Amino acid sequence: MSEQILLAFDDEAPLAQALAQALGAPLAFVQRHQFPDGELRLRLPESLPPRVLMLRGLQRPNEKLLELALCAPAARELGARELVLLAPYLAYMRQDMAFTPGEVVSQRHVAALLGGLFDAVLTVDPHLHRVHSMEELFPGRRALALSAAPLLGEWVAGQLDRPILIGPDEEAAQWVQAAAAARGLEHGIGRKHRLGDREVILELPPFEFGARAVVLLDDVASTGQTLIAAATQALARGAASVDVAVTHALFVGDALAQLHEAGVRHVWSTDAVPHPSNVVSVAPLLAQAALAL
Ligand code: R5P
Repeated sequence: MSEQILLAFDDEAPLAQALAQALGAPLAFVQRHQFPDGELRLRLPESLPPRVLMLRGLQRPNEKLLELALCAPAARELGARELVLLAPYLAYMRQDMAFTPGEVVSQRHVAALLGGLFDAVLTVDPHLHRVHSMEELFPGRRALALSAAPLLGEWVAGQLDRPILIGPDEEAAQWVQAAAAARGLEHGIGRKHRLGDREVILELPPFEFGARAVVLLDDVASTGQTLIAAATQALARGAASVDVAVTHALFVGDALAQLHEAGVRHVWSTDAVPHPSNVVSVAPLLAQAALAL
């Protein structure tokens, strides 16, 4: 038996296969059945090697958190001594303070749940804002945030001539700077105020967009409203084109269609979240970090 195995779920099969190949590790899928009443039956391989890497992106997270809460202790019962979670998208990171009295700071409690289940956690571009590092979030655990921003920067530079990279809000500054650095791209950061789930007020930086290709870059697109507001403004200010590059393509509901209706041309993303817009793979990044742990 190999020393390590990658366990994954079949809704993330393409990334799982690329990752297993990059790791040089065998891959097995967790068998998942949902009973008519909603309960889950999960089945792992009947015996496991000492090191188990579990791939589970936490987009649409609630049921997946329960899957992990069931699979992690089961994996230890079946032989795992070291359990590593590879969560290319780490959910609940934006709820990092009590915005109203009594509000649950989900970031902290989801991290405590995962830190209790796994020995190490790897993720890509987590939305760390008020909490600055994975070590702070997962005390006593090996925890690492990788960034796909340089890969997205390379991709954009390969597609467009002299693009301007724009982060829609201050929180995007870290990713925009990392993406721009890859090829010395011109870049700027907007300011955003969120009024509700689907309502944002946004101001782009004072650039001359005339006849330039603008690329909006962010960690995550959910309802798409942040990017729609930014795209509308960039086009109104004379941008020749507006494209979008995000690490995590959540795009809930008709967000993608709305984005195109607002004038966005291309939408590019990484495969951290499976989506038709995926053009850049995070598999080599995750594999390298998992091997180096
Ligand atoms: C928050 O600041 C994030 O970086 C994204 O800008 C935000 O989550 C995008 O959400 P939506 O697509 O719903 O506007």
